[in-house]
Amino acid sequence: MEKIVIKGGNRLSGEVSISGAKNAVAAILPATILAEETCVIENVPDIYDVTTLLSILSEMGAEIRMINRSSISINTTRISRPVVPYHLAKQLRASYYFLGVLLAKFNHAEVSFPGGCNFGTRPIDQHFKGFRCLGAQDSIDQGGMINVHAETLTGSRVYLDMASVGATINIMLAAVKAQGLTVIENAAKEPHIVDLANFLNSIGAQIMGAGTDVIKIHGVERFTGATYSVIPDQIECGTYMVAAASTRGDVLLKNIIPKHMEPITSKLQRMGVDVQEFDDSIRIRVSGVLEKNNIKTMPYPGFPTDMQPQMTALMTCAEGTSIMAENVWDNRFQYVDELRRMGAKISVDGKVAVVEGGELTGAPVCATDLRAGAAMVIAGLAAKGVTEIENINYIERGYENMIQKLTKLGADIRKTYVPEQEIKRAL
Ligand code: EPU
Repeated sequence: MEKIVIKGGNRLSGEVSISGAKNAVAAILPATILAEETCVIENVPDIYDVTTLLSILSEMGAEIRMINRSSISINTTRISRPVVPYHLAKQLRASYYFLGVLLAKFNHAEVSFPGGCNFGTRPIDQHFKGFRCLGAQDSIDQGGMINVHAETLTGSRVYLDMASVGATINIMLAAVKAQGLTVIENAAKEPHIVDLANFLNSIGAQIMGAGTDVIKIHGVERFTGATYSVIPDQIECGTYMVAAASTRGDVLLKNIIPKHMEPITSKLQRMGVDVQEFDDSIRIRVSGVLEKNNIKTMPYPGFPTDMQPQMTALMTCAEGTSIMAENVWDNRFQYVDELRRMGAKISVDGKVAVVEGGELTGAPVCATDLRAGAAMVIAGLAAKGVTEIENINYIERGYENMIQKLTKLGADIRKTYVPEQEIKRAL
């Protein structure tokens, strides 16, 4: 087992480059199955979720070649069985995008129920609603595999009961080859939805309106290959912005799209953080006190739920009482107990956390999921003393080279290996 050890109190300063977006590449890699020629995907982050997606494609028969550290050539033309191996699919949430893609390509898909972070029930009824509107039928077999099948896929109007990111993406993927016009209403508007639409259009799809709540898709028969660069990761950038603020640092975040950062930027500014925007970078500085704030998570362009734990960690270092309301997931405050070990004063009532600002002290804590893990790192950087974080595989699922990036900014952070005997002794 490995853990992250942080000696808190160092002020972060310098420059950091943001990697490609996890949740965009999680849809784009499965979507390469539609292409009838080679695709080159650039700005791919080196994270576990990408490794797992590439393993799925490779086991299905794709030819994958690393061109350099972040560019990958993928040829999926030899994939002939629309079945995703169970042992890999269960490791990540995004495996459900193979349902939409394989349905479009083969009129049939078999994929196990997806894995991913656990913050309450994560239903996928809207994905099935969309597939059914296009003419598909679904069933679950005894082994827990989801089967989706259609004689033909026909374009249709799909109204989503909630603006689900996953359902919008999956329906877009299934509809790109359906006959006629599909209209997704109440679609999600997150930057990675626009990025997937741009990739699909670059290989020949006809998608309009991505980024608004009505997406129109004219089905086409053939897809070419393309070279496509993934957008920068909004949440990785937001995480470093908050990390910089929590240490009262001065950090320039490079290779980003400042527009995507606005929901986070505006909240940090209200807390007294100085945010300077440039064409493709953003500078974070804190010189005065950090002030309290009230935040509600909302679908884009609202404040992202995937920044909620990190921002709550920042609130623990601000002056006064802040409020964080979680509006997307039912149970995304599981990490609060870990922050309490570090001296945070947080009370949670249902989907609302009340945070009394103060000082944190280092402690042994656990990453309860990906973004909760990022919150522990932020708390550890701001705390007095040493913080040891366990379950760091969650963090590595979604953050490229976090330890190297923070070390370059001046953090005292390292990964250590805990021998198995030591773990057994502690039990
Ligand atoms: N929902 C339903 N039915 C559905 C789909 C969603 O009731 O069929 C509900 C969910 O229970 C939730 C809300 O709708 O309350 C939003 O869910 P959504 O479908 O938008 O989430 P997702 O697609 O499963 C993606 C990201 C999450 C991120 C959410 C919200 C990926 C792989 N995952 O999940 O990212 O929290 O959108 O923005 O893109 C993360 O990166 O740490 C992460 C968890």
